[in-house]
Amino acid sequence: MIKKQEAVKVLVSRIYPEIGIELLRKEGFKLTTWQEDRPMTQPELIKAARENNALLCTMTENIDKHFLNECKHLDIISQFAVGFDNIDISEATRLGIPVGFTPDVLSEATADVAFGLMIATSRKMFHLHKTISRGEWSYFRPTANLGIDLKDKTLGIFGLGRIGIEMAKRCKGAYNMKIIYCNRTPNKKAEELFDARLVNFNDLLKQSDVISVHCTLTDQTKGLFDRTAFDRMKPTAIFINTARGPVHNEQALTEALRNGSIWGAGLDVTNPEPMHPGNPLLSMENVSVLPHIGSATVETRNKMSRLAAENIIGFYKNMRVPNIVNPETLTNK
Ligand code: GLV
Repeated sequence: MIKKQEAVKVLVSRIYPEIGIELLRKEGFKLTTWQEDRPMTQPELIKAARENNALLCTMTENIDKHFLNECKHLDIISQFAVGFDNIDISEATRLGIPVGFTPDVLSEATADVAFGLMIATSRKMFHLHKTISRGEWSYFRPTANLGIDLKDKTLGIFGLGRIGIEMAKRCKGAYNMKIIYCNRTPNKKAEELFDARLVNFNDLLKQSDVISVHCTLTDQTKGLFDRTAFDRMKPTAIFINTARGPVHNEQALTEALRNGSIWGAGLDVTNPEPMHPGNPLLSMENVSVLPHIGSATVETRNKMSRLAAENIIGFYKNMRVPNIVNPETLTNK
């Protein structure tokens, strides 16, 4: 292990799956773990991080400019997530702090949630489940509880990367859906494998029967699905978001569902999180909401824990962070 004479101290911001924690312990790191179920407030985080050399954190921690400047001594920040919009990456880079993350290992689990939400929404499953517990299941009714078919429909993917391609695979395989996508750059793999076609944002809105959001949250994508966007969608369309809540405007989505601009929505991410239990979306028939569980399987979370630990270990052992957001921070070290 490089530099330090004493054990390197790592602040572990939440209770993470043991597999990565054990790896760090075995390598001789000294861990301080926040034991409460809630995330640390930023002052608590700053206070604790000041006592440590590295930080293992996730999207519940606010790693903004203020935090980074209060904690510029940190050697590395290792994020337990594929998204890192909670971290001011340009400031971390300016300060020379490498930021690790956990891509790839959660793509399939997250696509499963998008795919599941699409089916659940198209058949009103969440709503119908609730009606049974309210004692409202009377008789089989030939014209009641009708959903819509997905076979041969058009899936529009917004942000076609690792997770989007897994969603395309599922929708093509199960329902022979036609795949169109909107992305900064063409995705040749998706075009070859699934006959996916790159379209502009307007065409994505107009042509899709299901829109599934898989982009990162940036200044360009924040609030992109607003009233104008929903108005351009088909009145039979389903909107799925398993990426980040702020990509859609929740008020506009609620209105679009109320006034029939779109047919349904499946959300694994909301804005804010947690969603308030009184949120009107929760009592709509064609809406399915989950509490941000995209990567939440035992296997996937174990893999994320291992990657997050390996990013720290790699940094201290040989100045290599296997999965890094800002590789330029390592070139001068
Ligand atoms: C989950 O939302 C992640 O970014 O890993």
